[in-house]
Amino acid sequence: MTESHDAEQAALRPHAEDAFADELAALAEADDRPRPARWRLSPWAVATYLLGGELPGGKVITPKYVGPRRIIEVAVSTLATDRALLLLGVPGTAKTWVSEHLAAAVSGDSTLLVQGTAGTAEEAIRYGWNYAQLLAQGPSRAALVPSPVMRAMSEGMTARVEELTRIPADVQDTLITILSEKTLPIPELGEEVQAVRGFNLIATANDRDRGVNDLSSALRRRFNTVVLPLPETAEAEVEIVARRVGQLGRSLDLPPAPEGLDEIRRVVTVFRELREGVTDDGRTKLKSPSGTLSTAEAISVVTGGLALAAHFGDGVLRASDVAAGILGAVVRDPASDQVIWQEYLEAVVRERDGWKDFYRACREVSA
Ligand SMILES: Nc1ncnc2c1ncn2[C@@H]1O[C@H](COP(=O)(O)OP(=O)(O)O)[C@@H](O)[C@H]1O
Ligand SMILES: [Mg+2]
Repeated sequence: MTESHDAEQAALRPHAEDAFADELAALAEADDRPRPARWRLSPWAVATYLLGGELPGGKVITPKYVGPRRIIEVAVSTLATDRALLLLGVPGTAKTWVSEHLAAAVSGDSTLLVQGTAGTAEEAIRYGWNYAQLLAQGPSRAALVPSPVMRAMSEGMTARVEELTRIPADVQDTLITILSEKTLPIPELGEEVQAVRGFNLIATANDRDRGVNDLSSALRRRFNTVVLPLPETAEAEVEIVARRVGQLGRSLDLPPAPEGLDEIRRVVTVFRELREGVTDDGRTKLKSPSGTLSTAEAISVVTGGLALAAHFGDGVLRASDVAAGILGAVVRDPASDQVIWQEYLEAVVRERDGWKDFYRACREVSA
């Protein structure tokens, strides 16, 4: 197969264990610390995979998560215990991202995933049936369709449940037996699937969904909760955005835009100021718009801007490439957010040194 053919067949978004296969392999080789049963790496190596570092041979492990080291250490060591891990935080704080990378590093497979929605049924967490076989032969192991959680239990792997609190409460409670007794009864067959060592579960939940379907206290006790914060400093947030945009740009074949860092810094500044309701220098109070303005949204604004610059500009990321994206992220509610944005534009952006081009670009798309 030719290389270009390979490139055309490449997955649009490879799983973490494939995208970072070389790092995982290098870590496994360098790792001489004890590994919990069925773990691909030791807890130390899993944390290094997430936080980045350099191995003795010189191999560089890129940071996946930028933030307090302790958060990742607590998350990893939780997975080595019999309690499950709940990643909690506002949207865009890398809950899904961290969950995927943890599963990839611990079990070598991040795909045993249940996506939680209001329509998630018990079968998605327990098991379903292949109806043709069920009708032909009656209930049997062959007719049973295991859920990702069931597979993780029988193979000693990491299961993932996304957006746990969006799942109706009675369906969530299916997890109680699984997490406390480590078993999944199959009454139709008079059997059970017992979790083997190595099984654990990572759930994510959105802070803002609180009250939608609150976790029952019985279920919450089965989890160790780790809260993922928004990036503490603007510099950390710029680093996250630049790194991720670089990766996404490469997978979309966008040319690298090294001069884009100033523009990224401006997007991050605008988002942070509006989110926190005060300007960077602490002098001017601002109203916050209704959107989240998370790091994840900054990433998509900049990626969109890069595509504009690459296809319709000269390849250099400029204010005019990100202005429309910023407006779209900030103005969610056309009435109230529009007013907040205009005030910010006139009171802050317009007066700021070196921001004239940005002011003009924003005025143009707002008009
Ligand atoms: N602290 C962080 N470190 C690294 N990447 C981050 C961080 N915060 C956000 N991101 C990036 O934001 C993007 C969205 O994160 P995601 O996991 O979908 O958020 P959530 O599930 O919390 O809503 C990911 O691509 C991730 O790279
Ligand atoms: Mg998510």
